[in-house]
Amino acid sequence: MSSQIDHVFDETRVFPPSPEFAAAAVAQPGLYAEAATDRDAFWAAQARALHWHTPFTEVLDWTTPPFAKWFADGELNVAYNCLDRHVEAGNGDRVALLWEGEPGDERRITYAELTAEVKRLANVLTGMGVGHGDRVAIYLPMIPEAVASMLAVARIGAIHSVVFGGFSADSLRSRIDDAGAKVVITADGGYRKGKVSPLKPAVDQALADRGEGAQLTVEHVIVVQRGGNEVEWTEDRDVWYHDVVAAAPAEHEAQAFPAENPLFILYTSGTTGKPKGILHTSGGYLTQASYTHRNVFDLNPETDVFWCTADIGWVTGHSYVTYGPLANGATQVLFEGTPDTPHPGRWWEIIQKYGVTIFYTAPTAIRSFMKSGRAIPNQFDLSSIRVLGSVGEPINPEAWMWYREVIGGNTAPIVDTWWQTETGAIMISPLPGVTATKPGSAQTPLPGISIDVVDDDGNEVGSGGGGLLAITKPWPAMLRGIWGDPERYKETYWEKFEKEGYYFAGDGARLDDDGDLWLLGRVDDVMNVSGHRLSTAEIESALVAHEATAEAAVVGASDETTGQAVVAFVIVKESYLAAHSPEGLAQQLRGWVGEQIGPIARPRDVYIVNELPKTRSGKIMRRLLRDVAEGREVGDTTTLADTAVMSVISAQVK
Ligand code: WTA
Repeated sequence: MSSQIDHVFDETRVFPPSPEFAAAAVAQPGLYAEAATDRDAFWAAQARALHWHTPFTEVLDWTTPPFAKWFADGELNVAYNCLDRHVEAGNGDRVALLWEGEPGDERRITYAELTAEVKRLANVLTGMGVGHGDRVAIYLPMIPEAVASMLAVARIGAIHSVVFGGFSADSLRSRIDDAGAKVVITADGGYRKGKVSPLKPAVDQALADRGEGAQLTVEHVIVVQRGGNEVEWTEDRDVWYHDVVAAAPAEHEAQAFPAENPLFILYTSGTTGKPKGILHTSGGYLTQASYTHRNVFDLNPETDVFWCTADIGWVTGHSYVTYGPLANGATQVLFEGTPDTPHPGRWWEIIQKYGVTIFYTAPTAIRSFMKSGRAIPNQFDLSSIRVLGSVGEPINPEAWMWYREVIGGNTAPIVDTWWQTETGAIMISPLPGVTATKPGSAQTPLPGISIDVVDDDGNEVGSGGGGLLAITKPWPAMLRGIWGDPERYKETYWEKFEKEGYYFAGDGARLDDDGDLWLLGRVDDVMNVSGHRLSTAEIESALVAHEATAEAAVVGASDETTGQAVVAFVIVKESYLAAHSPEGLAQQLRGWVGEQIGPIARPRDVYIVNELPKTRSGKIMRRLLRDVAEGREVGDTTTLADTAVMSVISAQVK
């Protein structure tokens, strides 16, 4: 990593906004001063851009940190804000979703149509006994029904837990059980890389294999017909989406819920093997999701075509596919497939076809396009693009420059947006039209957001210094807790620094001499693979669950395309070797992890070794394994119990 950091700090290019862009931009420089003068008044003004059934009189209640309440005495309906109010304002005919399926099928869905669908689905859920505070799991491909499902759950004051369609039955089960979901909304299957990838069988499996003492909370499964693949059916439990939605009453009045009503749970990897159910609530979350979507992307809902390529299974899909864009009445592209099916220019073809003006994606995608060369995007007319966004991991200056030149025609400002599942919405980003951008730097906390780089004690490092990223004041879209585990919430995020109310993000960062932020990646045992968070502990526990494995250690090694890659070191049981040949075992273990967690967690490399480097107290020194995985000279081994072990491992890896 260090060579990359040095490289980043040699970066001196700066790209100021054009005067035309600056003059017409949504966000003006005065926003910073406005937020600094009176933070509460600033956020209250942003919140008032939403419709409140009952206006709030309180802004922030931070009397019992780290448990915050925002706009607590106000009441709103999140779905009403994303749907009905646009229809009532006369914009029912505006297209909300320009959907394209992987095989090339299309649907254009207006705000009026989406509202009608969500009303019926809300009635379906109510009819199934789903009420205020109940949990609904959503396990769907990127189809309009996914967005409709989230909104229908929100509309009745229930809580959704979207599980990424690429997760295995095991991962789905643990999420369904942790949240105690009453209903699962899924599909027969979805299209992926030219064929139907089934989803329903994973739901069947997740609901069938009950572990010891695990009670089945799910009463109904709603199945969208998408893939057309054969599915098994459990009578009295499974229903087709199209049947029940068509049969449901069309009318549904959105009821008001308190601002702090839970909206969703989204699971994310932490430093232990058990994913954390990050809890978000309604008023503050929607305020910041819509404010950032408008200001960071310079949104004009009447003329822009927005496209965020994230799956709704990740937080980016929650905030910048479903809630931010729809709360702002935007028109957006929703795409089911992968970037290279059926041809490597599919994304650019979509941009050309729909005239996408604002494009938001991840550095890993940009780097893989870079690899296949600019000739591919150059075949398409990308001149509609006027703002580019990046999210999920640090973007290296080369990728940033390529993005700007090849996709942005050398003019579109790039917003490198830093945030997390826990923050709910963008926290650090340039403002297009205001900020002179620097390749590789996320630059500035947004107006209304307080962030600093601090040392281990929480003291500011100041310009030119490096340390840990801390959020120093509560923000509206902040997580409200970890589902069912308030202790873990406090411990993980709020007890790192001495200072009360300082949030530990888990990221390293540096401030340059201008005071701009450069994010340097995770400082804990969380890897970032293709912009997805994976925990070393979770993959290790999947590996040791295999009959062959005695011990396993996993590290994130830097990778040219995916940012980091999962590399595993495994000690095989003697008893297993007595009965089996080790031939093909590494490959088998890779597949095993894919089945246990999901294909994104599949290790790039599995090395079978005889020993792992441990300290005298038995702690695995992952730093040394990372050196091996990255092909570097192995670092200081003096604290190892057996200093010879690294040369043995290095030899075995070669
Ligand atoms: C990383 C994704 C550098 C970071 C929205 C963070 C970034 C984790 C950036 C959260 C960025 C996200 N620059 N690093 N612009 N954006 N990260 O929860 O390590 O999936 O802690 O949320 O991604 O990942 P998550």
